[in-house]
Amino acid sequence: MSEAVEPVIRKIGIIGGTGKEGKGLAYRWAKAGYSISIGSRQTEKARAAAAEILNLLGPAAQVQGLANQEVAASSDLLVLTVPFSAHADTLNQLKETLRGKILIDVTVPLVPPRVTRVQMPPAGSAGQEAQQILGPDVQVVVAFQNISYEHLLDDGPVDCDVLACGGSKAVRAIVVKLIQDAGLTGWDAGPIENAVVVEGLTSILIGINKQYGVPSAGIKITGVLR
Ligand SMILES: NC(=O)c1ccc[n+]([C@@H]2O[C@H](COP(=O)([O-])OP(=O)(O)OC[C@H]3O[C@@H](n4cnc5c(N)ncnc54)[C@H](OP(=O)(O)O)[C@@H]3O)[C@@H](O)[C@H]2O)c1
Repeated sequence: MSEAVEPVIRKIGIIGGTGKEGKGLAYRWAKAGYSISIGSRQTEKARAAAAEILNLLGPAAQVQGLANQEVAASSDLLVLTVPFSAHADTLNQLKETLRGKILIDVTVPLVPPRVTRVQMPPAGSAGQEAQQILGPDVQVVVAFQNISYEHLLDDGPVDCDVLACGGSKAVRAIVVKLIQDAGLTGWDAGPIENAVVVEGLTSILIGINKQYGVPSAGIKITGVLR
């Protein structure tokens, strides 16, 4: 029996990549040599965000700005960085184009104004909502929910680990490699049902930021040698 061959990821597309978290991830992966497409509802806004990253990294970096739909069609792997209020609509619009691809969902289901309280959607988590909308043809992995954008456009070490859950074990290994290539420590955190913990932790971290007057509290997995 032939073994499934996992895709080689070269082109990463970031849907809603013009925002704070998306631009930070674009910067980190472009710096690592990936070809990055930043997506937006407005092509001009995407081009401006790409120009900002190229300004930081120099013209040899591979970063372009396109409409979300074009990004979804032309990338090997997609990353979703939109507010939760736009999560379901954005996925429904891109559903057909995302067939057969991997999606890293970064969305946190925050419900303003009470963002320090965990409030999960009926599907259980944003990641499970994405998997329900996209169906079994798309492997959804949640990751980066606990990394503040403040760390990402900065080259320094990040004092927060990244938990990745959802998809198959092989797909999570691909995502953990992308996390490492972004200069962060990543962990296989199991199936998509565990997304409730990863997404929920963000509200706890925002609450700690407020209570202790810090910009970006994080989490670390301890007790594992590797
Ligand atoms: N900021 C952080 O530190 C952080 C950390 C971890 C996780 N997250 C999560 O990552 C996601 C993005 O966070 P962010 O801070 O980058 O958000 P953001 O800057 O507020 O928004 C990101 C992008 O989403 C798009 N967008 C906004 N409203 C939309 C709508 N109604 N329909 C379609 N697209 C829309 C916009 O792109 P266009 O206008 O160009 O289309 C915007 O630039 C959120 O779910 C957040 O909870 C954020």
